[in-house]
Amino acid sequence: MKKLLVATGGGDCPGLNAVIRGIVKRAKKSKEWEVYGSMEAFNGIFTDPLRIVKLTGKKTAGIHIKGGTILKTTNKADPLHYPVKDENGNIQLVDKTKMFVDRIKDLGFDAVINIGGDGSQKISKAFFDHGLPVVGVPKTIDNDLSATDMTFGFQTAVQIATDSFDKLVTTAESHHRVMIMEVMGRDAGWIAIHTAIAGGAEICLIPEIPYDIEKLVQKIESRYEKGRGFVCIVIAEGAKPKAGSIVARQGEEGSRHVRLGGVAFQLSQQLKDAGVRAEIRETVLGHTQRGGTPTAFDRVLASLFGVKAFEMVMEGDFGKMVAFKNNSFISVPLEEATRNYNHVGVDSFIVRGAKGLGITFGD
Ligand code: F6P
Repeated sequence: MKKLLVATGGGDCPGLNAVIRGIVKRAKKSKEWEVYGSMEAFNGIFTDPLRIVKLTGKKTAGIHIKGGTILKTTNKADPLHYPVKDENGNIQLVDKTKMFVDRIKDLGFDAVINIGGDGSQKISKAFFDHGLPVVGVPKTIDNDLSATDMTFGFQTAVQIATDSFDKLVTTAESHHRVMIMEVMGRDAGWIAIHTAIAGGAEICLIPEIPYDIEKLVQKIESRYEKGRGFVCIVIAEGAKPKAGSIVARQGEEGSRHVRLGGVAFQLSQQLKDAGVRAEIRETVLGHTQRGGTPTAFDRVLASLFGVKAFEMVMEGDFGKMVAFKNNSFISVPLEEATRNYNHVGVDSFIVRGAKGLGITFGD
């Protein structure tokens, strides 16, 4: 029997377990491969005792409906930036790809499926370039990988955000308030724009379209003048004001961890400073968007990604990532998969369509 190693890396995402189950189920039918999982990305291959688990049908039964990952995950297992102490005892981040590849081969694995976002797929590419047969599976709630039309976890995040948004609308209406809801998405506005359309927001602020605070104030005032005494805003964690519109604080702080939870409160203050008199309240959804059970769509996408990834292993189609393009499951070279970031197009139909629905972006 050949041995396949599976790992989940980077932030978690609803659907990871469905991919793992898909791989195991398809591998069982092949009767040629045994599937193992490394715990916490590739950390499990270096621990003593090893934290590598055999993934059987029994172990993965029914896991597709659960959020998170049974293999656990971490942002801190990056072979490309591996912490090593130098002679002065200082930590340096060095490329240890070869050490990881040698270890995986020494442990007797014939191939790897690496499930993760853009950072993880850069690792997949480095592994492949060092001679390891590897297949990547894209994962992220942000939907910011350009090689695939959709990543699993995204629909679930949008559904969670929309459910929360719907709740904010009724309380905004009762109190005649301005409600600001901050969503995740890193440097892309996909979660924000989908939620704004699904929820019927008045204003949507995304990283791709810097906003002018005056335009937002006009929109808010005209809503109150027309007697529609409430405004609901969706703001992406990476949104920022136009340079010169006001002091541009968002996004300048560098780390998205600083930014997360910051933009809703900053926008609130900017609106108050610009003269908005209505009461304003802020909600930051944070990691709720990554939790819980995946939607049916994400379970299907993730399960089929798992099956496709295993079939690529069987066919020897390595150095590639599974992708969903034009309603088909295809494989794309990792090189291509990691080249471009998938932003919301400023002139795309989704933006024009949202504007057609009356949503203001503040541009
Ligand atoms: O990439 C997924 C994501 O949830 C982003 O939307 C967010 O910016 C980031 O991860 C949060 O990372 P962490 O879980 O490390 O705080």
